[in-house]
Amino acid sequence: MKRVAVLASGQGTNLEAILEEIAQGKVAARVVLVISDRERAPALERARRRGIRAMFVDPGLYRSREEYDAAVIGELKEERVELVVLAGFMRLLSPLFIREFPMRVMNIHPALLPSFPGTSGIEDALAYGVKVTGCTVHFVDEGLDTGPVILQEAVPVIQDDTAETLHQRVHAAEYRLYPRAVDLFCRDKLKVEGRRCYIVE
Ligand code: GAR
Repeated sequence: MKRVAVLASGQGTNLEAILEEIAQGKVAARVVLVISDRERAPALERARRRGIRAMFVDPGLYRSREEYDAAVIGELKEERVELVVLAGFMRLLSPLFIREFPMRVMNIHPALLPSFPGTSGIEDALAYGVKVTGCTVHFVDEGLDTGPVILQEAVPVIQDDTAETLHQRVHAAEYRLYPRAVDLFCRDKLKVEGRRCYIVE
């Protein structure tokens, strides 16, 4: 089993979906640590409820992004983490972090990248008026939501959608996609060549 850490800032429903599939034996991973940049993030409580070590690392204690990331890297190394899963982690990682875990950091984004990168993928898709959006799991590189795409799923936008109803539908797709991507990585079934990520048997 590969040792996985999850970084989350908010509700942690993607974390919950991954933990549930691990519990059911459908994902070959072991989550050894959950870290949040928000002390009261429900994600931390979800981890603790399942007996997983959960830590708040306070951004207020560090002078720069690099110093914060160095503290997080220290925790990840201590736990011998092999894959870092970003699940609603709303901080941009520094190049220092990415170089420490090249093609070993995954993110989920609530749009079909390269459309609508950034922190408001749902709202931006609605405002643009697209009829189809979705979600993307990708490896994280030094850009903003620019790394190689691992999996994507399309989600229709409905006439009366609000950001909330659309996000609910996108979330449902995320809960299918993210555990699968983690499982593929942990079974050594992902191969990256340039921008393209292949699933190998
Ligand atoms: C998810 O929809 C994820 O795609 C999004 O935050 C939500 C977190 O939900 N991430 C981003 O927008 C990253 N730019 P969760 O905390 O319930 O898993």
